[in-house]
Amino acid sequence: MIGDDPEELMNDRDRSVVVSGGGTGIGRAIAARFARQGGHVTILGRRPEALSAAAAEIRGTHPVRTVAVDLSDPADVEAALSELPDDVDVLVNNAGGRGTPAAGGGLKEVAERWRRDFDNNVLPAVLLTEALLPRLASPGGRVITIGSVAALRGNGAYGAMKAALQAWNHTLAQQLGGRGATANVVVPGYVAGTEFFGGPATEEELARRRSQTLVGRVGEPEDVAAAVAFLAGPDAGYITGEFLNVNGGTLLGR
Ligand SMILES: NC(=O)c1ccc[n+]([C@@H]2O[C@H](COP(=O)([O-])OP(=O)(O)OC[C@H]3O[C@@H](n4cnc5c(N)ncnc54)[C@H](OP(=O)(O)O)[C@@H]3O)[C@@H](O)[C@H]2O)c1
Repeated sequence: MIGDDPEELMNDRDRSVVVSGGGTGIGRAIAARFARQGGHVTILGRRPEALSAAAAEIRGTHPVRTVAVDLSDPADVEAALSELPDDVDVLVNNAGGRGTPAAGGGLKEVAERWRRDFDNNVLPAVLLTEALLPRLASPGGRVITIGSVAALRGNGAYGAMKAALQAWNHTLAQQLGGRGATANVVVPGYVAGTEFFGGPATEEELARRRSQTLVGRVGEPEDVAAAVAFLAGPDAGYITGEFLNVNGGTLLGR
């Protein structure tokens, strides 16, 4: 069971951890993992009710704090700064998604689609990181961004935006190196049980996804949380500017 190892439990004692999109899915599992390990966790998202529900359900050493903010809006991020912790040890840029596709096939809709995917996936990570950089622990700070296998396999504007995050992470790692802090990207394949696809997957879809992996099961939010915990932990201090694939071998296929 994740979090039962006494040494692991020590890892995050009293560290300040900020998780964007921590109210649902992968972000919620990440927040829960850090909370169990003794961290002071703050979760961010646009919907206050999703954040409150997650905060009430996550069992940790300290209460989970919530901050409702649209991370694609610079003014909103600026306004939220007073509610965010003064010191940040771990920043997890997890907020993202695809949103509802714009109807129609004209260039106007194409532009809308690309702008929307940029707003949904690139700006939340970039704006929150820029805002919190002055508060990031130096040395020891860790920035971990959630990418996607779509960056490596395609999937239109969404994949392109996740690839942009990987390129951005190079610059961030270069910036942070001198401060003794690191920046890495966790790159999940398909992960079940989140709001990403707007509803639960059918049995057929799950079987298809399962068959694409080498390990014969689909990803769970906890798989991604474990990779994030590793990159935030004491054994990963010499790893920066990297991408960690968490996809059960999907890239190799079967
Ligand atoms: N599920 C998968 O198969 C999969 C695979 C690869 C990568 N990923 C990535 O994993 C991350 C988490 O996704 P998920 O699968 O856990 O889906 P999810 O349940 O939809 O989680 C996305 C979270 O991000 C928050 N969010 C989105 N836009 C935001 C914004 N502008 N400002 C603040 N919060 C925002 C959402 O909360 P609000 O709606 O309340 O704002 C939500 O809590 C995403 O970056 C996604 O691209 C997912």
